Amino acid sequence: MKIIKVTDAIAGGRVAFEVFREKVLAGAKVLGLATGSTPEELYKQIVASDLDLSELTSVNLDEYVGLSAENEQSYAYFMKEHLFAEKPLKASYLPNGLAEDPTAEAARYNQLLSEYPVDVQVLGLGRNGHIGFNEPGTAFDSVTRVVDLEPSTIAANARFFEDESQVPRQAFSMGIANIMSAKTIILMAYGEAKAEAVKGMIEGPVTESLPASVLQNHPNVVVIVDEAAASLLS
Ligand code: GLP
Repeated sequence: MKIIKVTDAIAGGRVAFEVFREKVLAGAKVLGLATGSTPEELYKQIVASDLDLSELTSVNLDEYVGLSAENEQSYAYFMKEHLFAEKPLKASYLPNGLAEDPTAEAARYNQLLSEYPVDVQVLGLGRNGHIGFNEPGTAFDSVTRVVDLEPSTIAANARFFEDESQVPRQAFSMGIANIMSAKTIILMAYGEAKAEAVKGMIEGPVTESLPASVLQNHPNVVVIVDEAAASLLS
């Protein structure tokens, strides 16, 4: 793991953009994208840049079960707002939150991922160490499926909804094995609320109890953290 410490999320987004840009210029064709507040500055930088993504394909990590792409809280909507409307790609894929047959939808997504192996995966970090929506206890050999969200994740994400009761209880998420297949991974984490998870991810044992710790086994990970998120590192 390469660890880069920055002063704040703005500086982090700029550093992430430089790594991202280098990979795209070097020929990356498939982007694995993430939502949440963490990658917002990276997406701003991409939109403001002259980087041409029109020949690239993206696959997103996850989507809430039950939300349509038109729902403002859906990850499809987030991606359109923050990136795709301004910087369209050749094709962009997310799981379909309204799929009638969730098992078939997960299988479709795994098939898609085998057709589009990810070159650069962007990741945020959950407060409990989750990546995508792979909550603590997720098997390292997991692939895309429907997951139950932890109460702490529902509470953390409630800030984007009218109230906590509106937060979906389930999501489609790429699995740990899907994430680990990416050639390069850029993980960003900002703020004190992420400090415990950052410490476990970097200095703790590799354990399914802290999903992000699996990244210690990946050959090409760049971790970008601000001072608050890095505050518990020794
Ligand atoms: C959600 C997403 C994750 C994201 C995490 C952190 O649970 N599924 O992909 O990394 O939240 O969100 P934030 O960046 O808003 O702190």
